[in-house]
Amino acid sequence: MSFLTPRLFAIASMVSYGEVVADIGTDHAYLSIYLAKDSKAVKIYATDINEKPLQTAKNNILSFGVKDKVETILANGIEWTKEQDIKINSCIIAGMGSTTILDILKMDNNNIDCYIISSNTGVEPIRQWAKQKKYFIESESIIIDNEIIYEIIKINKFAGQKIKSKQDLLFGPILKKDTTNQLFVQKWMSEEQKIMELIKQIPKKEKKVKLLKQKQKLISKMLKKETR
Ligand SMILES: C[S@@+](CC[C@H](N)C(=O)[O-])C[C@H]1O[C@@H](n2cnc3c(N)ncnc32)[C@H](O)[C@@H]1O
Repeated sequence: MSFLTPRLFAIASMVSYGEVVADIGTDHAYLSIYLAKDSKAVKIYATDINEKPLQTAKNNILSFGVKDKVETILANGIEWTKEQDIKINSCIIAGMGSTTILDILKMDNNNIDCYIISSNTGVEPIRQWAKQKKYFIESESIIIDNEIIYEIIKINKFAGQKIKSKQDLLFGPILKKDTTNQLFVQKWMSEEQKIMELIKQIPKKEKKVKLLKQKQKLISKMLKKETR
């Protein structure tokens, strides 16, 4: 469907056929509609915390004729999944900042098998959460949409890559393996540049400088790997 942006399309491609999906913070519900139209998901719960976007979602779901597959729910995060006797195979949390996503993930429960996450801010705190929970990274992708680079990750509770090192946390255990990926290089060159600018602006004595320098060292090492 033409209305699916490259970011939403990359998220949709991480869903497997026959899944029950939850689309948290659905807004326009385009992703839910695509998954229903494509017959990828057998059932989709399209949720939002706000009534206005949920009404837009309802209207779009009706006009695309997928009401039988997509159920709308007005709810905060994934709290509602605890109370129901359901199994969600993939829970998508996309288009929010990491702080909101982490707040939602606090409501994690056994009714959810895995998460597909696309944060508008850093992915590192999400990987940190997965590490703490001893969950696995099933897949990762890096894409560009409207000149913004996004990392999308799928966290699985049963199998996949473990997050073992600082490099895994920062770059992603799967993404870091392909240092020839031009978007990966572009993202980390730009991050390194931002860190160098920040270091110049902060008084040398501040603790943050040490952390920033450590991060810059990791990035520099990773980028050298690529240019070797
Ligand atoms: C920018 S839109 C993202 C829409 C779509 N998921 C995407 O990635 O394009 C963010 C949506 O998340 C909703 N939202 C924010 N916090 C939420 C929460 N705690 N639970 C459910 N929905 C939330 C907002 O109301 C808004 O409709």
